[in-house]
Amino acid sequence: MTDSALIEVRAGRPEDLQAVVKLEVRCFTDPWPPAALLGELTPDMLRMPLVLELDGVLRGYLMGWLVVDQLHILNFATDPDFQRRGLAGTLLREAARHGKELGMEEFTLEVRQSNTPALNFYKKHGFRETGVRPGYYVDNGEDAIIMACPLGPVLAQE
Ligand SMILES: CC(C)(COP(=O)(O)OP(=O)(O)OC[C@H]1O[C@@H](n2cnc3c(N)ncnc32)[C@H](O)[C@@H]1OP(=O)(O)O)[C@@H](O)C(=O)NCCC(=O)NCCS
Repeated sequence: MTDSALIEVRAGRPEDLQAVVKLEVRCFTDPWPPAALLGELTPDMLRMPLVLELDGVLRGYLMGWLVVDQLHILNFATDPDFQRRGLAGTLLREAARHGKELGMEEFTLEVRQSNTPALNFYKKHGFRETGVRPGYYVDNGEDAIIMACPLGPVLAQE
């Protein structure tokens, strides 16, 4: 990634499905099926999908649900070839910005207790652990860590 790389975050749409599926299978041991991803790539009153393009190529996505005043992160990944360069941070700040415009106040999410990169990422951005869902993941019975963070501090990280 060069200093002049062009980063754009925009609303996800059904046409992004192929690129999202390709990233999903590279990023997760239990990837969502394409039909589920397609559902999340169709914005409506509940869904707020965002994608990040780097020089016109889709390199990340964040799929959120708008639940009362909570922006619940359902699915979030960046291209393994472009990680640790701030792309997920950019997506998170854009999600906070869009969420705030839509009246959201707080991020919530579940993350695998073994997912050190994601746990580090969220903690770095001010998320706190608020609980545990024992045996939440059906593939291996792993616990989920529940995390939350107000949108304001994430916006202030710009
Ligand atoms: C979690 C994820 C989205 C972070 O994406 P990213 O583009 O690398 O994130 P950023 O570059 O904005 O932030 C980097 C920070 O994330 C954390 N992090 C990212 N990768 C890490 C790794 N391999 N080991 C430890 N910490 C890591 C660190 O806090 C890092 O900061 P540092 O480089 O100063 O130590 C990415 O690792 C990913 O897509 N993982 C696979 C999918 C996933 O688990 N999604 C989350 C589901 S809840």
